[in-house]
Amino acid sequence: MVRTGMTAALMMALAACSGGESAPAATAGQAAAGAPQAEFRTELNSQELMAHVIDYNAFEIWHRQGWIYSADGVEELFPTDDEGWFAAENAAATLAELSNTLLLPGRVPPDADDAADWISYAHELNRTSLVAMQRAEAQDKEAFFDAGGDIYVVCRSCHEQFVIGDIE
Ligand code: HEC
Repeated sequence: MVRTGMTAALMMALAACSGGESAPAATAGQAAAGAPQAEFRTELNSQELMAHVIDYNAFEIWHRQGWIYSADGVEELFPTDDEGWFAAENAAATLAELSNTLLLPGRVPPDADDAADWISYAHELNRTSLVAMQRAEAQDKEAFFDAGGDIYVVCRSCHEQFVIGDIE
């Protein structure tokens, strides 16, 4: 959804870009017609993927939500303008898509039972991130905060099953 002038300018730039090039459209058409499966590049190991990609992006959500209570009163961490909420929405959309990186070949555990659990955690990360995205778009602080908590529960659940030792 277009919320800011900056975003509108970017959308126009993108529209101009795709309008001038016919090659990307042809590529998309070939893929839809059943082009061979692309080769995935998964050089990042699981620790790098978690630390630099998943964790990094989760905090792009979490540091935009919550309340800090002190003697001076209550400080809100939520965005205060449309641009800030748009950034929160972007972060949640990014995490939703990143859940798919957990499902790339070589990243799902080989054991069938483990794989089923792993896949369901990744899907749950996708679902909760999409909920957070919708709530950021609605600029609903409480609901966005709850969605962030639901994301955290998914992280913890997968770690409890698949990570030996503490993470934080
Ligand atoms: C599908 C399972 C799964 C989900 C979901 C998951 N993780 Fe992880 N995470 C792992 C595994 C496995 C490791 C251990 C990686 C290793 O050390 O090889 C890990 C490790 C980590 C680490 C430690 C990285 C390091 O430098 O040692 C962090 C931080 C982390 N995860 C953050 C998150 C956050 C934040 C989320 C949720 C937004 C999340 N993870 C969701 C499986 C998961």
